[in-house]
Amino acid sequence: MPSHKRVVTVLAACCAAFVLLAAAAPSASTAAEAVQEPAAEVPENPIEATEESVRAGLRVYGRFCRSCHGVRGDGRGQNPSPGTRPANLVDDEWVHGDSDGEIYNVIRQGVPPNYDMDAWEGRITEDEIWHVVNFLRELAARSR
Ligand code: HEC
Repeated sequence: MPSHKRVVTVLAACCAAFVLLAAAAPSASTAAEAVQEPAAEVPENPIEATEESVRAGLRVYGRFCRSCHGVRGDGRGQNPSPGTRPANLVDDEWVHGDSDGEIYNVIRQGVPPNYDMDAWEGRITEDEIWHVVNFLRELAARSR
């Protein structure tokens, strides 16, 4: 084989390998990202748990949460969706994280995959979610 032809063959082989690598790379890195994806950012509670905030939280809770989670927050509401078990919000058990920010995220985003606990983002304001978090802390403290 004349030497320039060999060079072309080698180049072609190199190119093919490169194209294969390039094609394989994105899917490999996407898979890695899916595995390593960090949990949703956990925000700090920006709203002080004043009496006013707790009272605002009580109002939101009474309208939107009590039917499932109960007057006392113990998960025994009058009207849960059939076959679901609303969480007790005044015990020490937080299945989805016990910081204010994690509770905020659950209320905002709901609980996948079934969303028996709905996402409230867009239906109540961010401030209202924080007020409810403050209210739940107060409710838990009082039920001890
Ligand atoms: C239709 C019934 C329903 C309504 C209304 C509802 N929830 Fe829930 N909630 C659930 C269920 C069911 C779960 C348990 C979800 C799971 O873990 O699979 C839950 C879980 C939660 C959790 C997680 C508790 C933990 O242990 O981590 C929080 C916090 C919560 N709800 C707060 C609220 C707030 C605040 C409202 C009102 C804005 C609300 N929920 C309205 C049914 C409801």
